[in-house]
Amino acid sequence: MEKIILTGDRPTGRLHLGHYVGSLRRRVELQNSGEFDKIYVMIADAQALTDNADNPEKVRQNVIEVALDYLSVGIDPTKTTIFIQSQVPELTELAFYYMNLVTVSRVQRNPTVKTEIKMRNFEQSIPVGFFCYPVSQASDITAFKATTVPVGEDQAPMIELTREIVARFNNIYGPTLIEPEILLPDNAACLRLPGTDGKAKMSKSLGNCIYLSDTPKEVAKKVKSMYTDPLHLNINDPGHLEGNTPFIYLDAFSRPEHFEKYLPEYKSLDELKDHYTRGGLGDGTVKKLLLNIIEEELQPLRERRAYYEQHIPEVYDILKKGSETAREAAGKTLDEVRRAMKIDYFDDPELIAEQAARFAAQAKK
Ligand code: TRP
Repeated sequence: MEKIILTGDRPTGRLHLGHYVGSLRRRVELQNSGEFDKIYVMIADAQALTDNADNPEKVRQNVIEVALDYLSVGIDPTKTTIFIQSQVPELTELAFYYMNLVTVSRVQRNPTVKTEIKMRNFEQSIPVGFFCYPVSQASDITAFKATTVPVGEDQAPMIELTREIVARFNNIYGPTLIEPEILLPDNAACLRLPGTDGKAKMSKSLGNCIYLSDTPKEVAKKVKSMYTDPLHLNINDPGHLEGNTPFIYLDAFSRPEHFEKYLPEYKSLDELKDHYTRGGLGDGTVKKLLLNIIEEELQPLRERRAYYEQHIPEVYDILKKGSETAREAAGKTLDEVRRAMKIDYFDDPELIAEQAARFAAQAKK
């Protein structure tokens, strides 16, 4: 069986460090591992419109932002198909068929959807399209026969639902679709990087994000103002690591060689943590180390971004070609789906003959 990746992001804002450690960095590793036969990365504009129907311009602007973010992290269009969801209408068609295989109460139990409904004050009036986006996500994944979906943990309920839909589809219509596996980040800090204010998650509305497209000056300012340990007033006080944002970021970003390079007094993150909890280590030193590490990580991104920002028509061309490739792949799956569901009226050479024979036999009786 071919190993195929599909993943994607809603174009509702620029991508940030949370996206980077939670999925983007991994995607590039998987892309370069050579272990996968096909990789699709989708800009989920149709999904973004499910709760931004009145703001199409926002989605349109962010499609190019997300494309630049992808290219800048090193997603390579010669190895990965980058495409725009709405440009593959087969996905919408497939979602419509999947809606018959899912109950309303099943979607209502989806914890990610529940949280999102609360966050958007949709309790009284959920757009049907928004409510159905987990079903549409199952179609995104299965249209490409994806085996592997690298995403953050908030997406786990979607993959679970996808697997249920696949099982139900194959059971009713015969083996057609592939059940995908989720691939989560391997490090707890990467699973959910907190915002710079220490809140559970980076989120544009909370203004606690470090964006991949931030300038060195912006990054420095944000790191300096990071939330640490409110009880650590004097350097010599013992510090607490729990909920200490710079340390959580170090868990996500630092490698042993960073210590040798930027803070040779410590051999490892564990030594640094020990000193902090004992007392005698200031937040400034920790933040300075973190800033050096983040900057080292972001610098190559900025160089690639600078190129693509000056070659915008080339970026749209990448998206157009990617969308054509994706459409072809999804089209093949849809042919199989239509056949399995018995809605391939004009592609079944036997259908007309069978029906003609049936009515002829009836007439003779
Ligand atoms: N829901 C994802 C997000 O919020 C985007 C997405 C849409 C997706 N379809 C997908 C992710 C399929 C993985 C697989 O960013």
